[in-house]
Parts: sequence; C-alpha cells; structure tokens
Amino acid sequence: MISRAALLYLSQRHELKSFFTILPGFKQVTRRFIAGENIDDAIIAIRELNRAGITASFDHLGESTTSEAEAESDVREYLHVLERIEATGVDSNVSVKLTQLGLDIDEGYCLRNTRRIVEAAKRHDNFVRIDMEDSPKTDATLRIFKTLFKEFGNVGIVLQAYLYRTEADLNEILAMGARVRLCKGAYKEPETVAFPEKSEVDANFIKLMQKLLKSGIYHGIATHDERMVAATKDFAAREGISKDDFEFQMLYGVRRDLMLKLAGEGYRVRAYVPYGEYWYPYFMRRLAERPANVWFVLKNLWKG
Ligand code: FDA
Repeated sequence: MISRAALLYLSQRHELKSFFTILPGFKQVTRRFIAGENIDDAIIAIRELNRAGITASFDHLGESTTSEAEAESDVREYLHVLERIEATGVDSNVSVKLTQLGLDIDEGYCLRNTRRIVEAAKRHDNFVRIDMEDSPKTDATLRIFKTLFKEFGNVGIVLQAYLYRTEADLNEILAMGARVRLCKGAYKEPETVAFPEKSEVDANFIKLMQKLLKSGIYHGIATHDERMVAATKDFAAREGISKDDFEFQMLYGVRRDLMLKLAGEGYRVRAYVPYGEYWYPYFMRRLAERPANVWFVLKNLWKG
C-alpha cells in the first residue's frame, strides 16, 4: 500500500494536479473532501450540512503566497463569502490561513488584510477563525490574533496539542476570554518543539480539552478520533457541562457518520468546508492522513 510519506511528497508536486485531473472520475472523487471550486458549490454543501443539524466554516483553499495580488484576491474572496453567508442565510463562519493573507510578505501587511476580513465579519455579525500553521508561524499568528481580538472580539484561534508551548499559550488566551479550536496539529514538526509520540499528543489533547471545557468560554474540539470524542463527552457529562457550551469540529468528508451521530445525540457539530481551485495539496494531505482512503479513490476511479 502507498505510504503516508509518498502521499505527502505527491501533495507538494503541484504540477501533478493536471495529470490527476485528466483521469476520468478523479474530480468526482475529490468531491468527498472538497465542496467544489467556487462559493456556490460550498453553499450547496453547507445547506445540506445545515439540514442535518451541522454548522460550517468556509475555507477557501490556498497555500502560502508571496504575491500581494494573490493575498488581495484572497481577502476579496472572503469579503464575498461573508456577503453570501448573509444573503443565503446559511449557518457558517469562516476560517482563514494567514500565509494566504500575506504573512510571508510582511506581518503588518498580513494584519491589515486580516483586519479587513474580521471587520467585515463584525458588520455581518459573523466570526473568523484563524487557522494555525507550522511552528515558525506560531508567534506571528498569535500576535495578529491577539491584536484583532482586542479590537473586534469576533475572532478565534486554533491551538495544536502536539506543541510543547500550547499549554502556556492556552492559559494566556483563556485569560483574554477568547475562543479556541483545539486540534492535534497537522504539520511535520521537529522533536524540539512537538511531542514525537502519538500517545503524548493524545494525552496533551485530553488535558487541554478539559481546561477549555472548564473555562466557561465556547470552544471547538476538532478531531475525528473517537477516543478524543469519547473523552470529551465523558468529561462534559462528569462536570455537568451542557452540550450547548462547546462544539465538535470535523473536516468535510471525514467521519461524516460520526458527525451525524453526534448531531443526533444533541451535540453541536461544525464541519470545516474547503472549496476552491487550489484543491490538489489539500486533497493529497487528506489521503496521507489515512492511506486507506487511497482504496476509496481507486475503487471509485474504477467505477468511473
Ligand atoms: P488522528 O489523526 O489520530 O485520527 C484518528 C482517527 O480519525 C483515524 O484513525 C481515522 O479513523 C479518523 N481519520 C483521521 N483522518 C482521517 C481522514 N483523512 N480520512 C478518514 N478518517 C480519518 N491542523 C492544524 O495544524 N492547524 C489547523 O488550523 C487545523 N484545523 C483543523 C480544523 C478542523 C475542523 C479539524 C477537524 C482538523 C484541523 N486540523 C488542523 C488538523 C488536525 O490537526 C489533525 O491533523 C487532523 O484532524 C487529524 O487528527 P485527528 O484528531 O482527527 O486524529
């Protein structure tokens, strides 16, 4: 079976996108994880989630840019998304990656771009979640988040349980009264900054989840791991924390069964809904997380 490392390697070979796209049925298969190439496709997917009692977060796919034109285009895309959310009435907020908004160009420039989105979200009575990227970006991401939180309030951050520093960051952010999305962390990090063992990451995730739930602030617990989900449910029940006081978050197309089950049990569930033309690296990373998904792709290509 193809390995995780091979899939991660392929995810960085952007030129292969055109090769894969000409395979009959391939685009169809990507639709399991990606809502489509434009905002209207994402709205259709989100309407369906909403009907099943699941809220959403728009994610316009892209990776880091060093082009001001690309960063500007991403800002405009998000301003448009916020307008469309209001116009269509779908239940969704937005998630942004700061490297798409110019973090690799200049921190002040990125702050100004992100501010335009958070300010627009405020006007639309909506919320912006700032995704967390690899560890060289953590400090700048937190600085921009804190500045905008103090200015507007309607912005939250992602923290990664695999980083040693996260507990200290979490304490500081809780003291500010801000909302956190807790995840395990998706990047390849060195042992100097991140727990190398999965068991350590899981243990830290549970410890941090408990701190978040006890804080009295509304947070997102982002995982597809049934053990993390069970630990969260158990802790909430033991501590008398209501199902309305936090939400589970999962990626579009991953463990849809679990999302529906949790929503049916009365938990709040949000799906992170990626869309856009730049789907290739995101799609390959989802396959890399669970190489068994490659079977799903091959089976469907065969059918196509
Ligand atoms: P883990 O990887 O341990 O997987 C547990 C189980 O979940 C697997 O055994 C399998 O059953 C299932 N599963 C996981 N991935 C699957 C897949 N692709 N297909 C099918 N089943 C799968 N990271 C980051 O660094 N910065 C960020 O901003 C975000 N944002 C974010 C938002 C949301 C809503 C989610 C759910 C996740 C993120 N992440 C993230 C990614 C996160 O850090 C992590 O890499 C993935 O969620 C995988 O970790 P799990 O907790 O799901 O468990």
